[in-house]
Amino acid sequence: MPFYATAEANPNLAIIKYWGKRLEPPIIAPMNNSVSVTLDEQLRTRTTVLFSPKFERDKVWINGSEMRTPEELEKALPQLDAARKLAGSKLYARVVSATLTPLAGGLAGSAAGLCALAAACNEALELDLSPKDLSILCRIGSGSSCRSVYGGFAEWLAGTRADGSDSYAAQWFGEDHWKDFRTIVAIVSHEKKKVKSRAGMKQTVQTSMLYQQRLRDLPARITALKNALQERDIARMAEIAMRDSNSLHAVCLDTWPPILYLNDTSKEVIDSIHEFNADDIKAGYSFDAGPNPTIFTVEKHVPEIQKRLKEIPAIEDVIVSSVGSGPRALPDKGALMGADGTIRRWRVDNKKHDIIVEG
Ligand code: DP6
Repeated sequence: MPFYATAEANPNLAIIKYWGKRLEPPIIAPMNNSVSVTLDEQLRTRTTVLFSPKFERDKVWINGSEMRTPEELEKALPQLDAARKLAGSKLYARVVSATLTPLAGGLAGSAAGLCALAAACNEALELDLSPKDLSILCRIGSGSSCRSVYGGFAEWLAGTRADGSDSYAAQWFGEDHWKDFRTIVAIVSHEKKKVKSRAGMKQTVQTSMLYQQRLRDLPARITALKNALQERDIARMAEIAMRDSNSLHAVCLDTWPPILYLNDTSKEVIDSIHEFNADDIKAGYSFDAGPNPTIFTVEKHVPEIQKRLKEIPAIEDVIVSSVGSGPRALPDKGALMGADGTIRRWRVDNKKHDIIVEG
């Protein structure tokens, strides 16, 4: 066993949102099935992990900062424990992670991060997990990350078992299924989220009546989405995405005390997209637990949407992503830490979407 590996994973963006847990950490199983598209490599996360008898506890660095508080470590540590259990190992780990995803703006940062960590553990501990079992390891870290195990479009099944064993992700369509599909990610705010999704969804399950209606609506919406994706029908796909995002933010507002993730800029984006769609639906917005909009569309409409987004002053940056692939192991020359545990010199170049290891 090498006890040492590096892997990369891409974020995924939910078209049908996961919101609410039927099983709390460290299992994590959701109340509802969710569906996402995996993005390309521009916002990827790279993670190097080393398990060693030299270490007295787990240590995690993200973008150069050591995670020290229980809150900062709440996702990585249960996943490391689960990986150790699968390997029958008691060795502590050092984890060094570099991400191109802007963190904590409600932009699926933990999806790429916890998928990259699971994929690195899978290599380092030679777990030889199937995609299904890798998605279960991901889920233990952060629910949404289990959908990043696949390229293309994937569904995370809620399952019904009390041990969560039937809650895993499965691929719907591969990354080549819809070549001109695009996800436009607009960066509105680098501020940290006010209410983290983990806390927010728990509050919703406990207090929102409207949430029960959302759960009833979802099966038909998911079937309709599968048909729209199968037929590469952007009008239907985009309408479903917008309706699901609106439903999520409606239940957030119905939560007590209410949670408002959207801001004035989000509203400008919503208005602009509906104006663009006046004659026929060509694009759909979607918001996770934050104000950053993502727009689903097809390639030919990207220039017009970019023009519209650039007219909104608070939009700082726009990233256009194709449909991407699942996680991959990297050769040691791309590692962020040496096999002896020394952290290497590296930097992220957000403009070029690159992670550069310098020494
Ligand atoms: C709004 O996966 O971050 O992005 O399982 O508690 O780690 P935990 O939550 P997380 O929640 C993501 C919520 C969402 C919707 C989605 O990605 O499906």
